Amino acid sequence: MSYEIAPREERPTVQTDHHETMHMPELATLGMKLHGPVIGIESSCDETACAVLDTHGSILAEAVLSQQADHAPFGGVVPEIAARAHLAHLPALVRQVITEAGVDFASLAGVAASCGPGLIGGLIVGAGVGKGIALAHRLPFVAVNHLEAHALTARLPGLVQGGAPFPYLLLLLSGGHCQCVAVEGVGRYRRLGGTIDDAVGEAFDKVGKLLGLPWPGGPALERLAAGGDPARQPFPRPLLGRAGCDFSFSGLKTAVAQRMAKSQPLAEQDRADIAAGFQAAVADVLADRAAHALAMMPAARLLVVAGGVAANAAVRAALADAAAQGGVPMVAPPVRLCTDNAVMVAWAGIERLRLGLHDPLDTAPRPRWPLAELMPA
Ligand code: KG4
Ligand code: ZN
Repeated sequence: MSYEIAPREERPTVQTDHHETMHMPELATLGMKLHGPVIGIESSCDETACAVLDTHGSILAEAVLSQQADHAPFGGVVPEIAARAHLAHLPALVRQVITEAGVDFASLAGVAASCGPGLIGGLIVGAGVGKGIALAHRLPFVAVNHLEAHALTARLPGLVQGGAPFPYLLLLLSGGHCQCVAVEGVGRYRRLGGTIDDAVGEAFDKVGKLLGLPWPGGPALERLAAGGDPARQPFPRPLLGRAGCDFSFSGLKTAVAQRMAKSQPLAEQDRADIAAGFQAAVADVLADRAAHALAMMPAARLLVVAGGVAANAAVRAALADAAAQGGVPMVAPPVRLCTDNAVMVAWAGIERLRLGLHDPLDTAPRPRWPLAELMPA
C-alpha cells in the first residue's frame, strides 16, 4: 500500500493536552506499510546523528558524530557549543547518509527528527533540518520524542526474535534521564518511578570527576573499577528495599566525596577500589529498583534497558539477574544503540508512520517533554 499525505485540511485531527495537534489514524490505515525508507535525525544533546532505515526497519546507513572532545575541557555539555556543532555538521551528515544508503530524498516515506526533550538549540537545528527536507519533498514529518525513541529501540528488527512484544518494562539509564517506564504501546507510557535527584549517568560523571577521570566519567570509571575490589570500599545503597521504584544517587556521590576526603593521599589501588565500590552500589540499587518495578508491572513480558549506563557490564549483569528472578528475559540493545543515535529516531518515526501518525511542520521543539504526555486522550 502506498502512503500518501492528504492535504492538511482533509486530515482528521485531535488536540492533545499540550500545544501540538496530532494527526490521528483512520482505523483503515492502522498497520499501514510504508512505500520507502525513513530518515532519522538526532541532535538533542551532544551527538549529531543521522540514519536511514528501510521499510522494515533495517539500517541502510547511519552515522554518529560525538562532540565529546568539544565539551570535555568544560567537564560537561555546553549548550551553545552543542548547538553550533550540530549546525556545522548536520547538513553534510544528512547528505553523507543519504548517499551511503543509496536513496534520494524523493523516495523517502517520511522524515523523523528528535524534537525533545533536550537542549533547545540542538533541537531547533535538527527539527529545522528535518522539516526542511519534509517541506521540500512533500514528506510526512514525525516530531519524535527522544525518550520514546529510546523506549522503542528494543523493537528494531533482529534484536528480539519476532520483535519485542508490548507490554514491557523499560529502564532508561542515561546522563539526563533515569526512570522506570511501563511501555504499553507506541505512545502509551506510564512512568512507574524515577530519580528524585541525580540521573544515574550524572552520578557516574560526578564520581568520575571526583576521581580525576576525564568526562564523561562512566566509561573511564568502569575501566578503573576493573582493577578494584568493591568489598574494600563498600558504599551505601540508597533506597534499597524501599517500596516503589524511585532512585536516589546524590547521597552516594556525597559518600564517595567524604570517603575520598578522609583517605588522602589516595594510592592508585584505593582509587580503583572506590570506583569498584561505587559501581557495585549502583548496580545493586538498579537491580533492586528493577525488581520492584517488575513487581509493579506483572504484565511485563521483557525488561528492556536503554541509555548510556546500560553499556556498563556490571550494571547489565545485575539487571540480567533481576530480570531472571522476575521471570522475564532482559533485552539490552547493542551499546551503540543504547547511547544517543539516529537509528532509534528513524525507527520511532517508522512505528508512528505505520500507525498513520505524523505531525504538522509548525510543531515546536520542546526542551521538556515527559513521555506521559504522548498518551492518547
Ligand atoms: O544515553 P547517553 O549516551 O546520553 C544521554 O545522557 O542522553 O548516556 C550518557 C551517559 C553518561 O553519563 C556516561 O557517563 C554514561 O552514560 N555511560 C556510562 C558508561 N558509558 C556511558 N556509565 C557507566 N558505565 C559505562 N560504561
Ligand atoms: Zn538519550
